[in-house]
Amino acid sequence: MMPADGRCPPLPRGTGSGRFARAHDGAHRGAGILGGVDPQVVRYSDRPELWETFGGLFAEIWPEYNRHGETLNHYWAQLYDVFPEWQFVLCDPGDGTVLAKGHTIPVAWDGTDSGLWPGIDATIAAGFGLRAAGGQPTAVSALAAEIPPRHQGRRLSGTVLRAMSGLAREAGLDHLIAPVRPSRKDRYPTIPIERYARWKRPDGSPFDPWIRAHTQLGARIGPVIPRSLHITGTVREWESWTDMRLPETGDYVFPAGLAPVHIDRDRDLGEYWEPNIWIIHPPSTGPGSPS
Ligand SMILES: CC(C)(COP(=O)(O)OP(=O)(O)OC[C@H]1O[C@@H](n2cnc3c(N)ncnc32)[C@H](O)[C@@H]1OP(=O)(O)O)[C@@H](O)C(=O)NCCC(=O)NCCS
Repeated sequence: MMPADGRCPPLPRGTGSGRFARAHDGAHRGAGILGGVDPQVVRYSDRPELWETFGGLFAEIWPEYNRHGETLNHYWAQLYDVFPEWQFVLCDPGDGTVLAKGHTIPVAWDGTDSGLWPGIDATIAAGFGLRAAGGQPTAVSALAAEIPPRHQGRRLSGTVLRAMSGLAREAGLDHLIAPVRPSRKDRYPTIPIERYARWKRPDGSPFDPWIRAHTQLGARIGPVIPRSLHITGTVREWESWTDMRLPETGDYVFPAGLAPVHIDRDRDLGEYWEPNIWIIHPPSTGPGSPS
């Protein structure tokens, strides 16, 4: 019977996630909260009923406005049906605690920076288009890594990335790429993404913690994506999503926004483009490579 609190039941030996059930590689063993134990990777295709037990575990991951991307939502609604083997959770194999969720999609990338898509909207559309056309993927794009607030700050993000690379390798796809939502950009919404992407800490590592989690695994920063995720709504919708009054036409900084939202009172329209940054993980020697 499935526990009701989002816990993973033990996987029977030989089922589920195969050789990428171990998301840690040797170099990172012991770095997380698992005390050196490898987390289980459980794919939606393995245990769809598990997803019904999450309750509010992942409810507060995204700010409200971020849930209203028209293109992203259109495809996201079909993600589990069309790509069930590319959606997964990480579980503590000891007590079954669900620690994180990962979303990915196979894509056909030519390996060049100019061949990357102009945003997460375009990337997810390309993944669905490729599948519909029966095309061959060459890479895997991360779409989201989600660590519930109660498990954040425990260095699990690298484990999620290694699991994503493991899924890619299992499918014979070398590259993991990611249109990354920089997690501290919300504190600097008026700084252009081109400049923010270049900010460094005194030790020379990227300023942004989520970008850093990627580069610590050998990934490089690729092109910036000023217009990655498109979110539009009426003025009233934006007022409710941001919990702000937006009395006149203009650009507004708002809580958790990575860039300002443009409000047009005459057209009753609020338009926001979320900026992202492409991150490219190295082939074969990437995160989670067999050590
Ligand atoms: C982004 C996310 C996956 C990162 O996971 P996390 O558990 O918060 O971070 P980790 O503990 O793995 O740490 C990764 C880095 O962030 C830093 N970090 C973690 N929490 C931090 C905080 N509150 N403030 C500043 N830095 C922080 C860590 O120090 C570490 O950097 P370092 O190794 O250089 O010291 C997680 O916060 C999350 O799910 N956020 C909501 C959804 C999201 O934005 N996903 C990413 C876009 S798809």
